[in-house]
Amino acid sequence: MGAFIVLEGIDGTGKTTACRSAAEILRSEGRDAEVTFEPTDTGVGALIRSGAAGRISQRAESLLFVADRIEHTDRIMRRVGEGSVVLCDRYYASTIAYQSASLDGDSADEGWLETLSERFVGIPDAVILLDMDPAEALARVGSRGEEGSKFEELRFLTQVRERYLELAERYGFEVVDASRPREDVLADVMKIIREVL
Ligand code: TYD
Repeated sequence: MGAFIVLEGIDGTGKTTACRSAAEILRSEGRDAEVTFEPTDTGVGALIRSGAAGRISQRAESLLFVADRIEHTDRIMRRVGEGSVVLCDRYYASTIAYQSASLDGDSADEGWLETLSERFVGIPDAVILLDMDPAEALARVGSRGEEGSKFEELRFLTQVRERYLELAERYGFEVVDASRPREDVLADVMKIIREVL
């Protein structure tokens, strides 16, 4: 039986590693399992990643993420239908959490983002939120840029984390403490996936 599992969290929480490791474990058990991610690297996703859209508002950017997701969801659901366990690194909660957060007043309305998500996305079998303190997460991804921008990034990610935790409560996401050793985080992620399968 296929399944659609989403991993969410701020940058540096280990989503990518957890997705890959979980897929490897599942494959070693003879299951069809694969990892995918958003923004994707084709079509609208490639446009987002290339930066070709330039400096656009959070509302406009949200629509690009949603457009990418609509195309991606078709591919995900097809694979799930074929029996694959699809592990997706970010999905609709990323758009709600990131595009509704802001430091300079340019943010999209959370209600509008939720409406977009309800209409245009698939329903995952489980959404796992890897949660940790943003300062620790930032330290993990390494220090980038100047002190000032790091402070801005920290303030921004603090907002994103709060949004994620609110969404987790509202939508029943599974929250995993990602500040622990990688093996412990993976064990929790696998437990949740096995409950779904
Ligand atoms: P990320 O998962 O970090 O991709 P990569 O590790 O390949 O660079 O995603 C890139 C950034 O895009 C990340 O900071 C979160 C942001 N993002 C949004 O703001 N909204 C969205 O809907 C998605 C999917 C990502």
